Amino acid sequence: MDKFIIKGNTPLQGEIPISGSKNAAMPVMAAALLADSPTVIHAVPQLEDIYTFNNVLRITGAQVDFDESNNILTIDPSHVTHLEAPYELVRKMRASFYMLGALLGRYGRAKVSLPGGCAWGPRPVDLHLKGLRTFGAEIELDNGYVIGNAPDGKLQGGSFRLDPSSVGATINLLLATVRSKGQFKIENAAREPDVVQLCNVLQKMGAQIEGVGTKTLAIDGVDQLEGVEVQNAPDRIETGTFMIAGVMHPESEITITQTRPDELGDFLDTFKNLNADTRIDGSKIHVKAPSTLHPESIETAVYPGFPTDLQAQWTTMMTQAEGASSVTDHIYNDRFNHIPELVRLGASITVNGNTARIQGKTPLQGATVMSTDLRASVSLVLAAMIANGETHVKRIYHLDRGYEDLEQKLTNVGAEIQRVQDTEQP
Ligand code: EPZ
Repeated sequence: MDKFIIKGNTPLQGEIPISGSKNAAMPVMAAALLADSPTVIHAVPQLEDIYTFNNVLRITGAQVDFDESNNILTIDPSHVTHLEAPYELVRKMRASFYMLGALLGRYGRAKVSLPGGCAWGPRPVDLHLKGLRTFGAEIELDNGYVIGNAPDGKLQGGSFRLDPSSVGATINLLLATVRSKGQFKIENAAREPDVVQLCNVLQKMGAQIEGVGTKTLAIDGVDQLEGVEVQNAPDRIETGTFMIAGVMHPESEITITQTRPDELGDFLDTFKNLNADTRIDGSKIHVKAPSTLHPESIETAVYPGFPTDLQAQWTTMMTQAEGASSVTDHIYNDRFNHIPELVRLGASITVNGNTARIQGKTPLQGATVMSTDLRASVSLVLAAMIANGETHVKRIYHLDRGYEDLEQKLTNVGAEIQRVQDTEQP
């Protein structure tokens, strides 16, 4: 098990390139099973979650080749015979649950493990199952597995409203219906860029989808889909994370490259209120830290609202703002495992229900802290880089799931980060 040793309070200067998005790639990886020929995906990041999903696909019999040095993933579904996704892998990576929609949509049958909870609480899949049942699937639960069957091998049609809107459920319902017989409508569908990318790729494969990017998706099932070659989107959450990194030390000035500023939604609009010099230049975002960071409260919402995946990072940044602020998460009301660790570093934060209240500006002091989940972990790295002295961030395997080459990218712009083996027992 590794940990980071970070020597803090260093300014960041230089360029940070953004990697492909894992959350945008994985729906497309599942969609590759719907086609009769291979799919090639460019800009797939070398991350644990991708390797896990590759193994989930291989278990079905699909041929998966990952040209890691070029970030190119090729998936050939020609020899898929085993219509299952096992607990051992699904429990490691929740997005494996997309296999339910993909296998049901292509083969009319699926046996997929329920994903279980995660570090910050239950992550239900009731909407996935209700939607599939509404569209005609027979869904049973058996020993922690979902057994799905489409009568006559194809879903029949129907209309389903997601409440609340759900990224994963929208993805699963799209995968289950595009290669079916009937007409389907998904209302209050998620509009995240990850969902839009999936719809665009499915359309390129031959799917009939109306309303892409809106809250109402209308699908006309088709008989056949062909594999495609596509470019995966850059990671918008990584982009937001590094923008935050670039304003926490008053002498920081960075340029984020290879990204899509237009996919940042309300995050970018809110970021501009921080009193930082923020300039957009095509696929680049130039950020110069202000001498005084303005406090800016946020409330998370579905896209294009402020993303829940950036609220932990924002909380860390607000410890350095001059004044009080609050962070409210309406998507996951208990996603605050990072707060006790930030308090260990000297932050002044209290949590009441789904709201964290932060008092800034609070100088942070290095300490040993523990990662608990992907986005909480990176918020601790951000805090360690601004803390005085040395911080040990333990259990950074969480980070390896979602941030490609993190320590290299940050070291290249002046951070003092060392990855070492953690000999202490957890
Ligand atoms: C996706 O998770 C992302 N994961 C999450 O990112 C992200 O936080 C989340 O969307 C919200 O944006 C991937 O893309 C792999 P949801 P997902 O279904 O699809 C409730 C990261 O850090 N809900 O949109 O699981 C749910 O409890 C990860 O990269 C139901 O009630 O999220 C939540 O409150 C963490 N029933 C809300 O909907 C359901 O059947 C949104 O969840 C499904 C969801």
